[in-house]
Amino acid sequence: MSNIVFFTEVANYTEEIMQSSGNYPVLTAEEVVSGIKDGDTVAFSGFTPAGAAKAVPSALAEYAREEHSKGRSFKVRVLTGASSGQSVDEKLANAGAIEWRAPYQTGVELRRQINRQEVEYVDMHLSHLPQTVAFGFFGQVNLAVIEASEITPDGRVYLTTSIGASPSYLRCAEKVVIEINTRQSQRLREIADIIIMPPPPKRNPIQIYDPMTRIGLPYAVVDPKKVIGVVESDEPDYLAEFTPPDRISRQIAGHVVNFLIDEMRAGRIPDTFLPLQAGVGNVANGVMAALGAHPDIPDFKMYSEVLQDSIVDLITEGRLVGASATSLTVTSEKLKQIIDNFDYYVPRIVLRPQEISNHPAIIRRLGVIAMNTALEADIYGNVNSSHVYGMDIMNGIGGSGEFTRNSYLSILMTPSIAKGGKISSIVPMCPHIDNNEHSVQIIVTEQGLADLRCLGPMQRAKVMIEKCAHPAYKEYLERYVKESRVAHISHDLVKCFELHRNLMEYGAMLPDLDIT
Ligand code: COA
Repeated sequence: MSNIVFFTEVANYTEEIMQSSGNYPVLTAEEVVSGIKDGDTVAFSGFTPAGAAKAVPSALAEYAREEHSKGRSFKVRVLTGASSGQSVDEKLANAGAIEWRAPYQTGVELRRQINRQEVEYVDMHLSHLPQTVAFGFFGQVNLAVIEASEITPDGRVYLTTSIGASPSYLRCAEKVVIEINTRQSQRLREIADIIIMPPPPKRNPIQIYDPMTRIGLPYAVVDPKKVIGVVESDEPDYLAEFTPPDRISRQIAGHVVNFLIDEMRAGRIPDTFLPLQAGVGNVANGVMAALGAHPDIPDFKMYSEVLQDSIVDLITEGRLVGASATSLTVTSEKLKQIIDNFDYYVPRIVLRPQEISNHPAIIRRLGVIAMNTALEADIYGNVNSSHVYGMDIMNGIGGSGEFTRNSYLSILMTPSIAKGGKISSIVPMCPHIDNNEHSVQIIVTEQGLADLRCLGPMQRAKVMIEKCAHPAYKEYLERYVKESRVAHISHDLVKCFELHRNLMEYGAMLPDLDIT
């Protein structure tokens, strides 16, 4: 490359940054980090790795390592919209830089540190987060670091692949830094629909009557006086490669699709269908793909939290005619596909703040069908999605609670066994409950589907064992019910956690069982 071309490119790039940065001071990530103190609360943008801050967290991790090498303590309290993956959580956790974390996480190292009580973790409903921050329950947010494609001199901030809690962080934080990510398309603002809820009791009904209703602005707002500068970045969202649904996920998906078709035939789901919410991961991807492929399922919409790769395919095929969420959690390949064909996708995707995407009133009003994944379910329909043995965090409750509790139909899915059969996902009593029997209606494993609606506890137990338990665990579960104390809900308080105790002690729930 000749010098002239190089300098022209640099000049263009600098001009682009200046235009996008609203003439705020351009800082290095290191300059930003030098102002962060041990114990500060830092709120980063990002809902999943989508739209997560990238440059400042990297520099912060580096700074923490330097401080630790000099024998000085340095840890911060970290907020994001939900999980943040490699961009924030894993970088900072690997550097030992996190003291406290909310509201959700999925990182392997961070999980380890939480379970060793090295990091305090607040696992909470995601729609509660913005008002919890606004009311000051977490104390002062010292700094917000928010990824955007542009900030204007009067404080309009155009967010990128997620909205999450960023509008609230921009409003509540003492100081703000904007990461201008030149890789993210300026057109992403066209799918943003942003409002901030006033505090109660002045909350009028939110006027969303269809998943695609738009009620807000394409930008979030910040007081320009709080913005200490912008940092340049061009890193992509770090997302794991998409894996096609496995056999178990396809079987679970098959049961869900058949059930929904039966509900339509019975007139309990209208011919126009109802909006869907799908959790993240393999099982959810499998269900969405199966729904899209089935000729008896009409074209549908989503009112969900996260849009994954499978959703983009369904929109492209014309099966999914509109999708509302708070983040576009898609691989670079799928994001490119959207950006390259933006005119097609703009009327079909809307991104909202997480207090709106997960809002109980809207979920109930639209009659959302909620489909989430569980770690385990008990024979009475209580579900644990977050804590192994009721003790070790896996990820957290995420949005599953607000969708399960408020949906028209709540479906929880899990493979019937885990770890090659050493674990049964159907147990006598869950040692931790994220979604309880009053909210959970349908439980599905690859073995079958248990429709628990309107059943009393003992009938629930019968259906759960019959339809959902793996054959290798059925006898144990039936015996448990038979030998339990007769009551409204039969239990044996000595034996109810026997499977979990065995798992901790011997590495298998039924140590003599051999499932090959
Ligand atoms: N007991 C102990 N471990 C179990 C288990 C059980 N009953 N069931 C599964 N596991 C283990 C698996 O073996 C796997 O372990 P590995 O990582 O060592 O392989 C791990 O838990 C994850 O299981 P997997 O089958 O890969 O699940 P997933 O990726 O589909 O995730 C949840 C399942 C429940 C962890 C995940 O969906 C979650 O965090 N849900 C809560 C939040 C949520 O629902 N968000 C969406 C709402 S919008």
